[in-house]
Amino acid sequence: MTIQEFVSQLDQLSEKATKAFADATDADSLDQARIAFLGSKKGELKAIQKSMGAVPKESKKEAGLKFNEVKGAIQQAFEAAQARLLGGSGSRVADPKFDATLPGTAFRVGRLHPITQTINELKDIMGRLGFTPAEGPEIEDDYHNFEALNIPRVHPARDPLDNFYLSVAGKTNDGALSDNPLLMRSQTSTVQIRVMEDTKPPIRIVSLGRVYRPDETDATHYPMFHQIEGLMVDENVTLADLKTVLNLFATNYLGNEVPVRIRPSFFPFTEPSVEADYFWDGRWVEFGGAGIVDPNVLRSVGYDPETYSGFAFGLGIERLCMIRHQIKDIRDLFTNDVRFLRQF
Ligand code: DAH
Repeated sequence: MTIQEFVSQLDQLSEKATKAFADATDADSLDQARIAFLGSKKGELKAIQKSMGAVPKESKKEAGLKFNEVKGAIQQAFEAAQARLLGGSGSRVADPKFDATLPGTAFRVGRLHPITQTINELKDIMGRLGFTPAEGPEIEDDYHNFEALNIPRVHPARDPLDNFYLSVAGKTNDGALSDNPLLMRSQTSTVQIRVMEDTKPPIRIVSLGRVYRPDETDATHYPMFHQIEGLMVDENVTLADLKTVLNLFATNYLGNEVPVRIRPSFFPFTEPSVEADYFWDGRWVEFGGAGIVDPNVLRSVGYDPETYSGFAFGLGIERLCMIRHQIKDIRDLFTNDVRFLRQF
């Protein structure tokens, strides 16, 4: 097929389609015309697009441009007809299915929960820094929640009163013996282990999800909350990398340049460990823990700590969300009062 033939086919189609859309008198006839010309399977435009293969190579570019131009014009003609029939003043009566005498209904579009919105945004920010989202189970075993994270048997974090155990050490629910009882995970650090067990370095992941602790409920505590966990493992990863990532993260989420400060701390799974604070609203606000992944943790997943190092951090998502939106009581996020939720 010559380019001239191709162009003339398109011109004819354009004319035909425009006329059909303009002639449509109701939603049904418009829809039939739409299927005939713009239908993705048997539409005429689609057929012409297929014939583009027969145009000589040197004219392909011209053919493509012409095709897009005509496609745009046909689509515009369709939208104009649609506006005329469905939205235009007076002409609505042309649509037999539209009854102007029926009462109107207030239509409220739903929205995502503020925590879900926050999670999506944080994932996005971390994604731009090269961190891929990872997930782990909310029902965890003792090994991934504590043992592999270098948290010793006697550590107070393992206290039955501070965790939602689903079975007790030494006994499973069906009475069998187990050294690895199940619990609702108390931290997202578990995902560090799950990812490293399955992947070789280099690693850059971020995991956002629910964690559970039997805390007394008040304005800042809730027995279920969300954490964001970051993990980067590679050769020569240092605290400087950690601080840079935390700084970019906070600055992106909270707005203009947000200074970050790290203070010495202790976590069994990092060495050194730090507490990270952001400067916000004239004061330093604690956001969570971080540090350089402890060599014992790297060893527990079969990594060589002589070759690899990494940083990890874990921050509370509610706190980030509450700070940014000036929410004063964490309970407001979970009582599902639409008058509250509607504001976000
Ligand atoms: N998992 C800790 C918590 O829930 C927070 C944390 C501290 C996470 C240090 C980390 C880390 O990844 O390196 O309190």
